[in-house]
Amino acid sequence: MRKIPSSNVIKQFKAPLFDTLLAHAKRGVTSFHCPGHKNGKSIDENLKNYIGEEVFKFDVTVFDEVDSLHDPVGPIKKAQELMSEAYGVKHSLFLVNGTSVGNIAMFLASCDSGDSVIVSRNSHKSIMAGIVMSGVWPIWIQPKIDQNLDLIFSTTYEQIKEALDKYPEAKAVFVTSPTYNGVVANLKKIIDLCHRRGKIVLVDEAHGAHLHFNNELPESAIDVGADLCVQSTHKILSAMSQGSVFHFNSKLVDINRVKKVVSMLQTTSPNYLTLASLDLARRQVFLHGKENFDRVIKAARWGRTYINNNITFMKCCTRKEIQGIGFDLDETKLTVNVTKTGLSGYEIEDILAREYNIQLDYADLFNLVAIMGEGSTKEDVEVFVRALESIDKKYHGEQKNWILKIPSLATEMVMKPRDVFLSNSTKKVSLKKAVGHVAAQTLTPYPPGIPVVIPGERITKEICDYLIDMSSKDIRISGQETEKLKMVKVFTN
Ligand SMILES: Cc1ncc(COP(=O)(O)O)c(C=O)c1O
Repeated sequence: MRKIPSSNVIKQFKAPLFDTLLAHAKRGVTSFHCPGHKNGKSIDENLKNYIGEEVFKFDVTVFDEVDSLHDPVGPIKKAQELMSEAYGVKHSLFLVNGTSVGNIAMFLASCDSGDSVIVSRNSHKSIMAGIVMSGVWPIWIQPKIDQNLDLIFSTTYEQIKEALDKYPEAKAVFVTSPTYNGVVANLKKIIDLCHRRGKIVLVDEAHGAHLHFNNELPESAIDVGADLCVQSTHKILSAMSQGSVFHFNSKLVDINRVKKVVSMLQTTSPNYLTLASLDLARRQVFLHGKENFDRVIKAARWGRTYINNNITFMKCCTRKEIQGIGFDLDETKLTVNVTKTGLSGYEIEDILAREYNIQLDYADLFNLVAIMGEGSTKEDVEVFVRALESIDKKYHGEQKNWILKIPSLATEMVMKPRDVFLSNSTKKVSLKKAVGHVAAQTLTPYPPGIPVVIPGERITKEICDYLIDMSSKDIRISGQETEKLKMVKVFTN
């Protein structure tokens, strides 16, 4: 965390947007504005009985007192300024449709149609939306896979360098860091290289809003010079769902274009409770992030050690292991490998929910991912690891020979994804006959959740064989239109 002047520290005790909404709510104003529930009066009684009525007084619309997200001049402007000071960036913009919308905005703000962007294939689905909407050419990077840990990593410095050498015309580089598993890329080295070559660096830091506030955690993208970076404040900090932040810290991108794009993509009826929670989450993490995350890290370390020392058939990867492979790890993410139990991550996720009342964020064939946040406690981790210990003793399946693998995905892009998306010149061909055609759809097998077919790329034999194999094993393929994947949509011209 960067040092900020003491006068600015004092300002961080304020929460201007929350204070404004609270004062407004307490005045009991007669509402002739949207929304129609009128300070909660017509909200369903079942909901009101459970959560109370006061919360609905925060659900207001745009008027002078509470400010406008699209043209802020009052408390929203002040709250955004406090956010940017807390993170040490030039500008921070509040988002009410999560990092999904921020990722799209990063593409539209930094690139023109026809530019090319280097991007790893294992990116969130909003990246494809950004690519289509902005009309850029993606230059794909093959995600690295570790078959011992059954993990997919983010982009390496060497991969970015190779892509920049091969495609010097690229306008920007897009990196996802941390990944869902908390694996952090060597961003400093990547960003320095990109800036030496005049390239814009965009970082999806959906899972990293806390990194800036505790030195025990890996470095945040904004501390090592990312031009644009989006964080899901709601994922690890205490903002309400959909509350994210777009950070701007660039000499290469125009802030006015960023503001225009972010405004263009957002609703004109933002949820003010979400906005106020961004203001409060910033204050909380600025004032207490160090101690709160000291506590969370300590609990996570305890849980990790307990799993590795006491649970026979499960294993939780360590920071040292991940560093040994050239990345870093946010230790607050507990990724538990369950392959030796003979059960899939999905099966254990289901047992945890049904028998132990524990809900995870994510599981795949190989792993469980327990995401900890600012509200997590040692007691929570204890409940989790005791449940794993119990499952480890109680349940065993037949050992499977599942191997985490994907085909070569640094494919030839024949058309821009946007041109295919807007075209009607498509037809369906059988999977077996798709080799050589230009794809007109996205196909993503789960696991591992990486798109194997992307609109505009030439379909290779290796990709077809992989899809046929996946389909024969009853792996769900997002994008398939029949129960089993039989046909692929391709471009006809
Ligand atoms: C890496 C990554 N990027 C972006 C997103 C989208 O974030 P949000 O849910 O805030 O829209 C997610 C969601 O899980 C994610 O894992």
